[in-house]
Amino acid sequence: MRVGVFASLLALAGAALGSATKRWSTDVPSGFVTTNGTTFSLDGKPFAFVGTNAYWLPLLESQADVDSTLASMQAAGVKVLRTWGFNAINGSELANATATNLTYYQLWNSSTWELNEGPQGLQRLDYVIESAAKYDIKIILTFTNNWFGYGGAELYINWIVGAPATHDEFYTNPAIVSEYQRYVSTIVNRYMNSSAIFAWELMNEARCSGDLLPSGPNCKPGSGTLALWYQQQSDYVRSLDPYHMITTGGEGQFYWAQPATYWYNNTLVSDYNYNGEAGEDFESTLGLPNIDFGTYHMYPQTWYPELDFPGSNWTVEQFGLDWIDAHISTAMMVGKPLIIEEFGALGLTNKTSIYPVWVQEALNTYHASIMPWQWGQLNLTEPTHILKYADEILDGATPNDGYAFYPNQTDVWNILLNAAAVQESRSG
Ligand SMILES: *[C@@H]1O[C@H](CO)[C@@H](O)[C@H](O)[C@H]1NC(C)=O
Ligand SMILES: *[C@@H]1O[C@H](CO)[C@@H](O)[C@H](O)[C@H]1NC(C)=O
Ligand SMILES: *[C@@H]1O[C@H](CO)[C@@H](O)[C@H](O)[C@H]1NC(C)=O
Ligand SMILES: *[C@@H]1O[C@H](CO)[C@@H](O)[C@H](O)[C@H]1NC(C)=O
Ligand SMILES: *[C@@H]1O[C@H](CO)[C@@H](O)[C@H](O)[C@H]1NC(C)=O
Ligand SMILES: *[C@@H]1O[C@H](CO)[C@@H](O)[C@H](O)[C@H]1NC(C)=O
Ligand SMILES: *[C@@H]1O[C@H](CO)[C@@H](O)[C@H](O)[C@H]1NC(C)=O
Ligand SMILES: *[C@@H]1O[C@H](CO)[C@@H](O)[C@H](O)[C@H]1NC(C)=O
Ligand SMILES: *[C@@H]1O[C@H](CO)[C@@H](O)[C@H](O)[C@H]1NC(C)=O
Ligand SMILES: *[C@@H]1O[C@H](CO)[C@@H](O)[C@H](O)[C@H]1NC(C)=O
Ligand SMILES: *[C@@H]1O[C@H](CO)[C@@H](O)[C@H](O)[C@H]1NC(C)=O
Repeated sequence: MRVGVFASLLALAGAALGSATKRWSTDVPSGFVTTNGTTFSLDGKPFAFVGTNAYWLPLLESQADVDSTLASMQAAGVKVLRTWGFNAINGSELANATATNLTYYQLWNSSTWELNEGPQGLQRLDYVIESAAKYDIKIILTFTNNWFGYGGAELYINWIVGAPATHDEFYTNPAIVSEYQRYVSTIVNRYMNSSAIFAWELMNEARCSGDLLPSGPNCKPGSGTLALWYQQQSDYVRSLDPYHMITTGGEGQFYWAQPATYWYNNTLVSDYNYNGEAGEDFESTLGLPNIDFGTYHMYPQTWYPELDFPGSNWTVEQFGLDWIDAHISTAMMVGKPLIIEEFGALGLTNKTSIYPVWVQEALNTYHASIMPWQWGQLNLTEPTHILKYADEILDGATPNDGYAFYPNQTDVWNILLNAAAVQESRSG
């Protein structure tokens, strides 16, 4: 999830991808989730689920709060949790991080980062994974962020390349790739024996451009820059860990020869989610041998202010249905499982009216698993305080970015409880 603008790029012709890397072993240890054609399986039985997102879980100071959150998730029927496997700061942020007891794993103060394995560092992530195992919840762990939040790609770029740089150098600069892989190997080696890991995820919402840095001439529709990076990094993770699943963490943008269009202010607009501008090519990426299942995200209101413009020929609900169907068609063609890994609508009324329609489409058409953004937990023992940026614990409630849903919002809550029951009935 990230709110912001998106820069337009030129269209170019496509580049083919190939990979010789051997697919992973299907003979996985007990308790590890694996794939079986278009579905997941666990210990020889189908595994369908409702999951959720809580990036803030490793940021909580109190282990009791981590436990109570995972216990509530378990009680609601949640089986899979996605959280950030990264938290990076730079040297200038260290004094504040120490003063506020902020979780961080990587400290950047030169062209090479330092690991924090202390009680304010990876020990917090250790506890989340240990507690998840206790509550029978499996974790999707993300290695870095396309956006600045909690120290993403642009920290690597700033410290290794410096100005002037483009965002896409993250995917191609050998020194950056090497520092990224050093972090990936740290995390994978630490947790690779744990059945509480559902899957490794290469990056949150990888795109050619970021928050601050633009994309360069080598990252444009058809360049295959992102797809090549996905291939190289998924092969790398597979070389470290033969058993856990691997996925992209991408928003699921397409690179179609005839992209979807919509009317805005009497102009027919080419939709950037379908024309390759973001850099992703969902179809070719899902076909990579070490990308085990597809992810996509869905925030129509944040993505398209045009939706409410007079004369526009679409709605929030309809965009979502089309987006869901497009991903289902691809997953069907490729023959791999699919997760709506993040989705959201703004406002309680919109959530209540739109979620059932989206959820039914995903669950019924493809038996796809769903992971709404984002979980809201009440009654934390932690007092009110800022975590970082505008993210705060307020009166014992976890951060609300407009997409959070809390157990006191029963209409929304029940939609997810009902979906969890449907998925449970499809599992072994
Ligand atoms: C794998 O899929 C097949 C058919 O789609 C199904 O019959 C079988 O039960 C599944 N096995 C597991 C372990 O999920
Ligand atoms: C920081 O949090 C830890 C728990 O994660 C706690 O034990 C410690 O007392 C806290 N330190 C400060 C300075 O608040
Ligand atoms: C370090 O973080 C500070 C505060 O977020 C920011 O102003 C600065 O640009 C960062 N420096 C680098 C090199 O990323
Ligand atoms: C970062 O490096 C600068 C200059 O080398 C040094 O003055 C500063 O103390 C370092 N900060 C940290 C947190 O290591
Ligand atoms: C440290 O925290 C203060 C107070 O929240 C803030 O104004 C300042 O920008 C922070 N400094 C850095 C380097 O993040
Ligand atoms: C994981 O298991 C392997 C094989 O049993 C062992 O060599 C390794 O030390 C274990 N790693 C961790 C982090 O426990
Ligand atoms: C909007 O209108 C265009 C042109 O008629 C059409 O191609 C497109 O599919 C429509 N979009 C939606 C979401 O109905
Ligand atoms: C809509 O188009 C008109 C005429 O081209 C233009 O003046 C106006 O600024 C446009 N409005 C928006 C919100 O783009
Ligand atoms: C609900 O969705 C409509 C249509 O996009 C939008 O205009 C409205 O602002 C949303 N409500 C809230 C509270 O965000
Ligand atoms: C939170 O605490 C209040 C007051 O103690 C209680 O009424 C409510 O049921 C609790 N909510 C949850 C979700 O546990
Ligand atoms: C539920 O809890 C959230 C977070 O504390 C609060 O903002 C909201 O007003 C509460 N009630 C409802 C009906 O959403």
